[in-house]
Amino acid sequence: MFAPDTVTSRREFIRSLSVGGLSIGFISTGFLRADADDPLPAGKKLIVRSAKPLNAEPALERLVENWITPVDSFYIRSHGAIPRIDKSPFRLSVEGLVDRPLRLSVDELVERFPNVDTEATLTCAGNRRNEFTGKKIGGVQWAAGAIGNAKWSGVGLAALLKHAGVKADAKHVWFEGADEIVDKSEKYPFGGSIPLDKALAGSDRMPGAVLATRMNGKPLPPEHGYPLRGVVPGYIGARSVKWLQKIVVSDRPSPNHYLAQAYKLITEETPAALEAAAPLYDFAINSVICVPAPETAVKAGRLKVQGYALPFGAAGSKVQKIEVSTDAGQTWTEAKTVSPVKDFCWVLWSTEVNVTPATNRLIVRATDSAGSAQPREMEWNAKGYQYNAWHQVPLKLA
Ligand code: MTE
Repeated sequence: MFAPDTVTSRREFIRSLSVGGLSIGFISTGFLRADADDPLPAGKKLIVRSAKPLNAEPALERLVENWITPVDSFYIRSHGAIPRIDKSPFRLSVEGLVDRPLRLSVDELVERFPNVDTEATLTCAGNRRNEFTGKKIGGVQWAAGAIGNAKWSGVGLAALLKHAGVKADAKHVWFEGADEIVDKSEKYPFGGSIPLDKALAGSDRMPGAVLATRMNGKPLPPEHGYPLRGVVPGYIGARSVKWLQKIVVSDRPSPNHYLAQAYKLITEETPAALEAAAPLYDFAINSVICVPAPETAVKAGRLKVQGYALPFGAAGSKVQKIEVSTDAGQTWTEAKTVSPVKDFCWVLWSTEVNVTPATNRLIVRATDSAGSAQPREMEWNAKGYQYNAWHQVPLKLA
C-alpha cells in the first residue's frame, strides 16, 4: 500500500542548494537570518517577553476562555529566528537505525499514513520562571502563560517509524528542526530526542506523538512550526520540535544542545553538573489562578475564581483535586472542573470563594490521581524550570 520513497528530483536538488545557502542535504528552506526581527504575527494577542528571538505569552485571563486555546492566544517559544519555509521542496528525512530510510514531502507524509487528531497541552519548562525567588535566573521571564492546549492533526510518529522499520538496538528517536540557533560563535539547529518507548506509544484512541501539519484545524502558522512539527503529549514543550526536518533513530539520546545540555534541573551551571543531570521529559503537575488578575480590587464576599490545572505528563495521570484558599492555606474550597478531562491535557476549573476582610491573596493547589500534590514551595534551580509551587495571587481589599 505504501509506494516506494520518491527520489528527490534534480531540479529540486538544485533549487535547494540555491536557497539561502543553508540547506541541509536536499531539504530546501527559505531561512531568515538568525538575527532577523520577527514581529508578533498579525492577530496574536500576546505579551512579548523577548523580541529577538520572539517569545510571547497571553494574559492569563485569555487562557480560561477556551479549553482549546485559539492560535491567537497560544504562546510562542522560539530560540532563534522563525524560518519561513516553502512547503513544496521541504523534506522530512527518517534515518539512523531503520530498515528503510525515508525522505518525504509533507504531502506524501499526509497521503501515505493515516490521519490522526489529538488534543495535547504544550507547556514550556520555563513557565512561571518569574516566580522563582533567590538568585536571579536568566532566560525568558515567563509568567504563567507559556502554556496552551490545541488540537494537533497529522500522522502518528509510531506509524511512520513502524513503516521505516526500527532496528532491534534502537532506544531513542532524535528530532531536528530547520531553524538555526546562533550561540556566540556557534550555529546549530534546535533538536532533542525522546525514548523509543514514548515514540512508539499510542493507540487508535490516543495516538501518542504526532507529526502535526495542522493546529486547531488549520495549517500550522509559521511561528508554530509550519509546515511540520512534532508534538509529544505529556512532555515539556522543548521535545515538540517545530519545523521538523529530520528524525534519526539511535541507540542513544540526541547530542543536540537542547537535550544534552539545556532543559535539565541543576543547582549550579557547570559542565559537570549539566553532564550528570538527566534530561527533562514529563511535564510536572501544576495549577494556576487566571482570574482574578493579581492586585485586583475586590470587596469582602463571594468571588469567582478561574484557572487551569495540568496533570503530571504520564499516561493515565489525572488532576484529581483543585483547591483554592483565601486564608493562607488554613482552609480550602474545592474547585469544579469545567472542561473536558483527557490524558496529557490541562483542565479548566472554576469556583466561588468567600473573601473576608483578612484575605490578602488567593492560593491554588492541585493533587493528581496518584496522590502527589503541588509543593507549597519550590526548590530553586539554576535554569528556572518546572516551577510548580502553590500559585498565589495578591488581592487589594476595596
Ligand atoms: N522547535 C524548534 N525547532 N525551535 C524552537 O525554538 N522551541 C521549543 C519547542 N520546539 C523550539 C521548538 C520549546 S522550548 C517550546 S516550549 C515549544 O516549541 C513551543 O511551541 P510553540 O512556540 O508552538 O508554542
